[in-house]
Amino acid sequence: VKRIDHIAIAVNNLEESLRFYQDALGLDCFTIETVAEQGVRVAKLNAGNTHIELLEPLSPETPVGKFLTKRGQGLHHICFGIDDIEQELNQLKEKQTKLIDETPKIGAGGAKIAFVHPAATGGVLMELSEPQHPHAPHD
Ligand code: CO
Repeated sequence: VKRIDHIAIAVNNLEESLRFYQDALGLDCFTIETVAEQGVRVAKLNAGNTHIELLEPLSPETPVGKFLTKRGQGLHHICFGIDDIEQELNQLKEKQTKLIDETPKIGAGGAKIAFVHPAATGGVLMELSEPQHPHAPHD
């Protein structure tokens, strides 16, 4: 594990939550995008060397919509950035870790991602992410 890639928070309304994170706390919101396949609208904010993602469900039937109905607003998942997701998943499987994704899926920006079950992590959904070009220079 190299770093915390992002911390994702489920919210009822992006604009309302941005009034705190952006306007009051002063974090820079650098994108708001709709990710249809995950059923969310996402606001991404710079928070030092990591990002905060605010997730607003597109409908109550989506995973984040169901999360809000069941648990209300709050921490949805923590994402760790790693170099080799296949190797990491194999290690976790060897240790009988309960996984949601046994093999990586392709997430935003072409990253390979997989989720670890909250039952294994102390109750917090955990995402692992291998960026598409981990060593590409910033432009
Ligand atoms: Co995430």
